[in-house]
Amino acid sequence: MKAKTRNHFSDIADVWNNKTWVKSDEFSNEIINFASFNRNDVLLYLGIGTEDLAKKLPVKTVCGIDLSAKMLSKCKNIPRHNLLVGSAEKTPYLDETFNVTMSRNLLKHCEVPEKALKEMYRVLKPGGKVFIIESCVLVEEDKDPPNFCVRTVEPYHPSFQTHNEILSLITSAGFNLHKHKVYTFRSRWLSNWIKASKASDKIHNMVLDFYKEAPKGFIKRQEVRFIDNDIESNIFWSLIIAEK
Ligand SMILES: C[S@@+](CC[C@H](N)C(=O)[O-])C[C@H]1O[C@@H](n2cnc3c(N)ncnc32)[C@H](O)[C@@H]1O
Repeated sequence: MKAKTRNHFSDIADVWNNKTWVKSDEFSNEIINFASFNRNDVLLYLGIGTEDLAKKLPVKTVCGIDLSAKMLSKCKNIPRHNLLVGSAEKTPYLDETFNVTMSRNLLKHCEVPEKALKEMYRVLKPGGKVFIIESCVLVEEDKDPPNFCVRTVEPYHPSFQTHNEILSLITSAGFNLHKHKVYTFRSRWLSNWIKASKASDKIHNMVLDFYKEAPKGFIKRQEVRFIDNDIESNIFWSLIIAEK
């Protein structure tokens, strides 16, 4: 699965920032305000991807690791950065190196997300913070539509999780929860997602049809609207800060 994930992200690295949530300043500002980063923070960002979020982080140093060299090659404007191609589950850093570690939508791409969290725990200094940002669903029964959508381009993609499931993963890795919330990001996303995934018109129509048949509860919670052959809806995000 790891090789497939790497190849997928390498294939789409040049169009990745078409995703509405990647390019959104509103979302980046929400993240920065929630985290209250410190200008002296030395931060490790696992699954850093491109520079879209990383370059905005108000910290002293950003160390970034990603499976895909192609995604990393888009990181050109991050001040004081240090980038490595590698796996989130096993990094070359010594124990207790960083005062902050973070990831955004990394855990849902890991076969065993606990391993990435344990690695974050290992490299954090005592009292250091982990900041997990992960798209989630509000209730178990809302997993099918987003799973269907991502699995049209990544058939091996693990399932979306609820906010509570993500919280449990983090505490199971040994962290103490500091603060957390579910943030709602609303956008008209399907056409942009198709571009960012290099997916076909056929997939566009398959996703549209699947969402049109989605259960009423899902449509209501996500406030799904079909506009001009596109989908506008809420995307829910777990923002979680925990302490070592
Ligand atoms: C959904 S993208 C998110 C990128 C970036 N964090 C953002 O929010 O724009 C996931 C990123 O994690 C990387 N990735 C996936 N699995 C990984 C792993 N096991 N170790 C390191 N990076 C991984 C992918 O190559 C990709 O760049």
